[in-house]
Amino acid sequence: MPQDFSGQVALVTGASRGIGAEISRQLAQRGADIVINYRSKAARAEAVASEITAFGRTALLAQADLTQINDLITTQTQIQQAFGKLDLLVLNASGGLEKDKPASYAMDLNLTAQVQTVETMLPLMQAGSCIVFVTSHWAHFYGERPIIAGYEPVASSKKAGEMALRERIDQFTQRGIHFYVVSGDMIEGTITPKLLDRAQPGFLAARKEHNPEPIPTIEEFAQAIVETAADRSQANGHTVFVGPII
Ligand SMILES: NC(=O)c1ccc[n+]([C@@H]2O[C@H](COP(=O)([O-])OP(=O)(O)OC[C@H]3O[C@@H](n4cnc5c(N)ncnc54)[C@H](OP(=O)(O)O)[C@@H]3O)[C@@H](O)[C@H]2O)c1
Repeated sequence: MPQDFSGQVALVTGASRGIGAEISRQLAQRGADIVINYRSKAARAEAVASEITAFGRTALLAQADLTQINDLITTQTQIQQAFGKLDLLVLNASGGLEKDKPASYAMDLNLTAQVQTVETMLPLMQAGSCIVFVTSHWAHFYGERPIIAGYEPVASSKKAGEMALRERIDQFTQRGIHFYVVSGDMIEGTITPKLLDRAQPGFLAARKEHNPEPIPTIEEFAQAIVETAADRSQANGHTVFVGPII
């Protein structure tokens, strides 16, 4: 395992489970100290922190609802006090289909909160630091390709978040900060394929018939995100695609 993140501090949003937890593990295995952002699942976040420390790295638990600016400021202060800097920001946390939230929530989280997270963390990021925005093919190609019914609020808001960050590329470049997007197909091992199949029975079978290539696993998707953050040789705004675009 290359120690290419040695001495670096990474904030992974939505790191309490799924893809964010795996990104955190892989970054820690490659030498990074990890700030574990989570919204509500404290026990799961603590379990991820234990794995990080077992790799010999430091884990900082940072509970924050990204849609709350005061929570973001608290996280910034925690990182400043613990590490004094941030080398990598992985914008992984996402949502928008929560039943207990207002209709505006998808945009609040996937657009406004992404921009506010970047703006709040930028003062901690020196030249050479990196921001990675994690998205799905359905969101990245929103408006160009058909999407499954029910996923519209997530796809449209994540696309808006990606575009709002792309508008800041000149600002990132002037500061010497790298900015990349990693877009994934459905990811095996997450709840998403099951939910989609439930919403549209037969969806997965039809998908397999159309394209028998297996969908990427959580480990494969996380690895692509970590490799993108490690490389930093691509031009700002470069998009990495994981899994077939069909
Ligand atoms: N799953 C897929 O098939 C798939 C495919 C392509 C791309 N992606 C992308 O991969 C990323 C992760 O997806 P996932 O399926 O692993 O997501 P997930 O299982 O739904 O996990 C979401 C994470 O985000 C956190 N979160 C949600 N709302 C938050 C808020 N307001 N503030 C702070 N944290 C919040 C959750 O924290 P708590 O658990 O503490 O609430 C959780 O850790 C997303 O950007 C998604 O678009 C996923």
